[in-house]
Amino acid sequence: MKKKDVEVQSDVTLQGEASATVDNEIQETAETVEPTTENVAVETEVAFDDVAEQAKEEAERQAQIDADRLLPPDPDALLEVRHLKKHFVLKKTLMGVPLSTLKAVDDVSIKIHPGETLGIVGESGCGKTTMGRTILKLHQPTEGQIFFEGQDIAGFSSKQMRALRTKMQIVFQDPYSSLPPRSTVGDILSEPVKVHKIVPPEQVKEYVLGIMEQCGLRDYYYERYPHEFSGGQRQRICIARALAVAPKLVICDEPVSALDVSIQVQIINLLKKLQQERQLTYLFISHDLSVVKHISDKIGVMYLGSMVEFGGKQAIFDKPLHPYTQALFSAVPNPDPNEKVDRILLKGDIPSPANPPKGCKFHTRCPKAMEICQHIAPKYQEYEDGHFVACHCYEQE
Ligand SMILES: Nc1ncnc2c1ncn2[C@@H]1O[C@H](COP(=O)(O)OP(=O)(O)OP(=O)(O)O)[C@@H](O)[C@H]1O
Ligand code: SF4
Ligand SMILES: [Mg+2]
Repeated sequence: MKKKDVEVQSDVTLQGEASATVDNEIQETAETVEPTTENVAVETEVAFDDVAEQAKEEAERQAQIDADRLLPPDPDALLEVRHLKKHFVLKKTLMGVPLSTLKAVDDVSIKIHPGETLGIVGESGCGKTTMGRTILKLHQPTEGQIFFEGQDIAGFSSKQMRALRTKMQIVFQDPYSSLPPRSTVGDILSEPVKVHKIVPPEQVKEYVLGIMEQCGLRDYYYERYPHEFSGGQRQRICIARALAVAPKLVICDEPVSALDVSIQVQIINLLKKLQQERQLTYLFISHDLSVVKHISDKIGVMYLGSMVEFGGKQAIFDKPLHPYTQALFSAVPNPDPNEKVDRILLKGDIPSPANPPKGCKFHTRCPKAMEICQHIAPKYQEYEDGHFVACHCYEQE
């Protein structure tokens, strides 16, 4: 593949194992990098006809979506998502015509193979949860294909989805609100096993006790109620409930962010152990880059509803391409005080997803923004084998 010469910041070190969250750290570090003639990669004096350019760009994007729709699913992938969109209508006329739409997920494509963990990172409100919920069809997708075990489930009815629910489970962030307070642990874990007829009725208790043991829950917890447990234990119960129906894919939506750091480590290690024992595939959503680094095989970086970079963990940590990824990763604390880290502070707030900037959605905060970035959205392209990025700096002819 032919590649343009690109300016990649290579001196950002990513050794830090201490906790760095996406939201706050970027704002708090070092000096602001303003776009200057030195750090702007290419300046162009071409005058842009925004309307014509946007129409052309939209036509090209649609042509790509139409072409991809005809491709067969990857037979090796457990989950393959193509051009997924979830738009929420915020305001509509009396006739039901949308007046204002929030593009929470806007043309996202990902692929996960069996037994892999895909980590999804990005600032609050960038659409991580909406993407996870739309993949599970807890939200109806606006557009796009969702291949699960080679079947496109995007148009499945709720009846068709019921049969699939056991194979796709979710673990939520808040272990306090996600357990019914008046049921015992035994009842909470037995119910899905009975409903989905995972084992014969007479074996349910023995089966549930086995899952509890795998999740580090003592057998006498069976008769206890959720309020009797700590946050970490409750999250173990939530994980046990997800695993009780023997899923293949588990979407973990910030499963440790509500827990103390020491408990976080235990839960992450439990998830890793269970993954090996049960050949699970995870879509792991987190603000915490060190957690994502620890657990993921692949990483996807989202910004304002779009995937801006996607690739293998090592490739992304060794050589983050997108200026947003570079800024996120530069905020990970480095445990070696002698090693210099060039931290990148992004200017400005995250724009509203209901009214995102035109062109590249990141241009209002990007230290490498060029004239073209204000007018034309960059294409999401494969830069190297399996490493995708959406940035004009890397666009190929
Ligand atoms: N049901 C809904 N109706 C309208 N807008 C919604 C709805 N659900 C989410 N949104 C909006 O979609 C955007 C993405 O939300 P989402 O919860 O997916 O972000 P997130 O990346 O998970 O954020 P966080 O890290 O804070 O959990 C936000 O602007 C949110 O306000
Ligand atoms: S395309 Fe976006 S990310 Fe890339 S240089 Fe322009 S503004 Fe920055
Ligand atoms: Mg969320």
